[in-house]
Amino acid sequence: MVGGTRGRLVLGIETSCDETAAAVVADGTRVLSNVVHSQVELHERFRGVVPEVASRSHMTRVLPIVRQALDDAGTTPDELDAVAVTTRPGMVGSLLVGIAAAKALAWCHGLPLIGVDHIQAHVFASFMVEPDLPLPCVVLVASGGHTALYLVREPGLALRLGRTIDDAAGEALDKGAALLGLPYPGGPSIQRAAQGGDARAIDLPRPMLGEGSLDFSFSGLKTALLYHLRGPGLTRPMPALDARQLADCAASYQAAVVETLVRKLVRARNAVPEARALAIGGGVARNELLRARLAGERRLAGLRMVFPPLELCSDNGAMIAGLGDHLRTVRGQVDDLALDAVATSRSAP
Ligand code: KG4
Ligand code: ZN
Repeated sequence: MVGGTRGRLVLGIETSCDETAAAVVADGTRVLSNVVHSQVELHERFRGVVPEVASRSHMTRVLPIVRQALDDAGTTPDELDAVAVTTRPGMVGSLLVGIAAAKALAWCHGLPLIGVDHIQAHVFASFMVEPDLPLPCVVLVASGGHTALYLVREPGLALRLGRTIDDAAGEALDKGAALLGLPYPGGPSIQRAAQGGDARAIDLPRPMLGEGSLDFSFSGLKTALLYHLRGPGLTRPMPALDARQLADCAASYQAAVVETLVRKLVRARNAVPEARALAIGGGVARNELLRARLAGERRLAGLRMVFPPLELCSDNGAMIAGLGDHLRTVRGQVDDLALDAVATSRSAP
């Protein structure tokens, strides 16, 4: 039998962006611990992630976070069956910190090392929640750094159907929030500010990029909001919005992002009529309006839908452990100590 009485235990380490995260997952699906340290406070004043600041923070945090993940799971490195770590895509300096920690643990404790693609892991999170998800499955991954549609015919192997040609959906929310004077990260603050607002108050674009396109474009959205606030020639000073206007702006902006994502998922479903399921991942998948709109969308009726718990949507180590376990046990993947960081994803066809 592989693994002890508690099943196969895999430690997952994630440091690709501004979260230092580690988790222990049993048998690829049971999350025994999931520790995430967010660097939001460090990057807030820059209104974006500063790579050098991120890697230095990962350096000080990664080992304590790993220790906490092991403690929370009530286990020790010697009881682990493998160590999985994000190797791509992401900021190379940040990825290298997690990779170095994973290599050290694997080497010292004689554990198999598995390198994992972060985007594939966001997709895989839904398969941890529902391992028997009917296939093929269309998946939206929308975060601060990525927005793309995928098709999964085999768990652990997502093929890209379309992607953003400029800003990611989360980035659009972050930039929109900045224009409205709302705190970073923008997704949650826009969601909060939008409560009670009128989503039809401002006419904002829902760029579809030509007939049938499964690509996204969000960069025009923040410009449209800016023009709404300051006039088309940016002739007006930034207005001081009252509570009602702020709620209306936030609600309209959130609706434009969500509506675009929903419509693209409808297109993806039409492009793959044999699709039987739909799943979402990435930080933007935490959005309540997105979840409600997808659940109620009659053009998506008949598809089994998975909306992973919020902690499995934003960056975390559990999805890395889950996919790592799958890659090792189903595909026989084991990496050596030459494992390296790569800035780009592997998920393009
Ligand atoms: O996946 P994630 O944690 O990190 C990246 O890989 O980027 O995603 C972070 C993004 C941010 O842009 C944030 O504004 C957005 O996810 N986000 C949300 C919500 N919570 C986080 N967007 C919309 N609604 C939310 N509730
Ligand atoms: Zn992510």
